Amino acid sequence: MEDEPRGLLISPIKDGTVIDHIRAGAALTVLRMLGITSQTDEELSIATNVTSMTDEKEGKKDIVKVSNRELSKEEVDRIALISPHATINIIRNYIVVEKKGVETPKLLTGIIRCTNAGCITNANEPIKSVFEVTDEGLHCLYCDTVITTDIESHIT
Ligand code: CTP
Ligand code: ZN
Repeated sequence: MEDEPRGLLISPIKDGTVIDHIRAGAALTVLRMLGITSQTDEELSIATNVTSMTDEKEGKKDIVKVSNRELSKEEVDRIALISPHATINIIRNYIVVEKKGVETPKLLTGIIRCTNAGCITNANEPIKSVFEVTDEGLHCLYCDTVITTDIESHIT
């Protein structure tokens, strides 16, 4: 907690998951990617544009704390798309028992909206989009469209 000077901006949590070192301003997108909305009932603490000694963009970062829920690697790895330096801390009885980074998954299911209006995943069908993450960009496995730029604006 060295990089939160002058006391704590948001309190430590007893049990749950802390997603730290989120790119400044990206916390709300992170919540969306985790499926956390106004319709779900997680106990959350969110800090945005917090001063950090170790983070890139103007020394600022975001933090998301989800109490009483240990997020799985599969759930959090998608965050790497928008925040590759995020860390995931599992907290039990106030102690950080596990800390790890995020790795971009090979497949993204139901997370990206295809840019091709004619893609089957954009029709009124109950079909989740599936994108393969390649060096060229995000490859739609239904219509072969490759999204190369501004990935954040294509997150569902
Ligand atoms: N944290 C929390 N509640 C706890 C313990 C930790 O909210 N009971 C938060 C801290 O505020 C921090 C993150 O979990 O944002 C990681 O905690 P810790 O490993 O103690 O902090 P650092 O050593 O600063 O982590 P790093 O080196 O990853 O920046
Ligand atoms: Zn498509």
